[in-house]
Amino acid sequence: MSVKFPVALESATSFPTPTILASPKSRLRFLTLKNQLSAYTEHCIFTKNGRGAIAIAGEALKRDGENIILIPAYHCPALVEPFIWLNYTVIFYPVLPDLSTDLGVLNALLIEERVTHCVVIRYFGFEQNINEVELMLKQHNISIIEDCAHAFFAFHNNILTEGSAADAQICSINKLLPSIDGGGLYIPKHSLPTLYPRSWLSEIKGILHTLGISQRLLKFKKPNTNSTRSKASSVDATKFRYFMPDEKHAASYRHTKWLAKYSRLNKIKQRRRDNFAYLISELKNCKAGKSLYTELKTNEVPYVLPFLLDDVEYFKALRMKGIQVLRWEEIAESSCSVSADYKERLVQLPCHHQMSKAEMNGLIQSITELGEI
Ligand SMILES: Cc1ncc(COP(=O)(O)O)c(C=O)c1O
Repeated sequence: MSVKFPVALESATSFPTPTILASPKSRLRFLTLKNQLSAYTEHCIFTKNGRGAIAIAGEALKRDGENIILIPAYHCPALVEPFIWLNYTVIFYPVLPDLSTDLGVLNALLIEERVTHCVVIRYFGFEQNINEVELMLKQHNISIIEDCAHAFFAFHNNILTEGSAADAQICSINKLLPSIDGGGLYIPKHSLPTLYPRSWLSEIKGILHTLGISQRLLKFKKPNTNSTRSKASSVDATKFRYFMPDEKHAASYRHTKWLAKYSRLNKIKQRRRDNFAYLISELKNCKAGKSLYTELKTNEVPYVLPFLLDDVEYFKALRMKGIQVLRWEEIAESSCSVSADYKERLVQLPCHHQMSKAEMNGLIQSITELGEI
């Protein structure tokens, strides 16, 4: 079965430049002189991005004969494309409304199909029922790739405690820290490839971006006025939009690795948790929609606050107000009704560690107003 991705519903160029950003900026107060990642072993490498780490894991874990992989139906194409490139047969499995997995459905798929591999995702930094899912997969001798793209802290903690049943774990550093690139791969039972270092010119460009200097210079560039809405149509997934096979050989920038090592991880963790708790409490009675999760478990660190809008038009309204909410619009066709619904209604509200109270209040006010019109 070939995988079909639709094109994005909206183009970022249709919206004004955001004032409340999805990602944090670099700030000295979140740095320390003490290496925070001392647990990292020879089984761990820093890749250019998460998709590169997925490709290396997918290649290392391939088995003889047909490789059939289960991937959650709610996903972004960057996580699926490496497996298509590696010639895996992809089967999408449905997600429940809280993005956990129905163990009965999973079990049936494992029995009916000749599944060899499975991707499990810690969506937005939350655990869902990942431990039960991994346990079931292990009982069926399935190779597990744990996607911690949104869960850098769980990735780090799992390495420290050897606390995951997965055969490989990946993370995406720039989702949580203010870098321009960066992925991580932990694969304890396989040897790792040597990655190419990036050129110094590109490293300097990366540093300028991380420091926010290139963005300031870009403000002087003429804005792109060609903002026609893209037409939704299916495209063949062999024409990759996000994954560039060559990137699999590239290491992360040196300064990204440095940032991962010398960021005050505990402080970042606490700020994100506090921001999430504040937003949750203030949006409790909001009439525009509801938060997908209202509590944080002990080890959960939110990447964003997933929020289910009552009206699909609210996404555009928030972007027009300058709030950089995100959503996964390019989900491959599947029979999962939750994914089809969430592609338009589930948005990712920022709750990163650099958000000020004023920004959070601006976000709360904008959403609350939508429900009161
Ligand atoms: C769940 C998930 N996995 C993997 C990826 C790929 O990560 P990266 O953007 O670092 O390549 C992303 C983001 O695009 C993601 O959201």
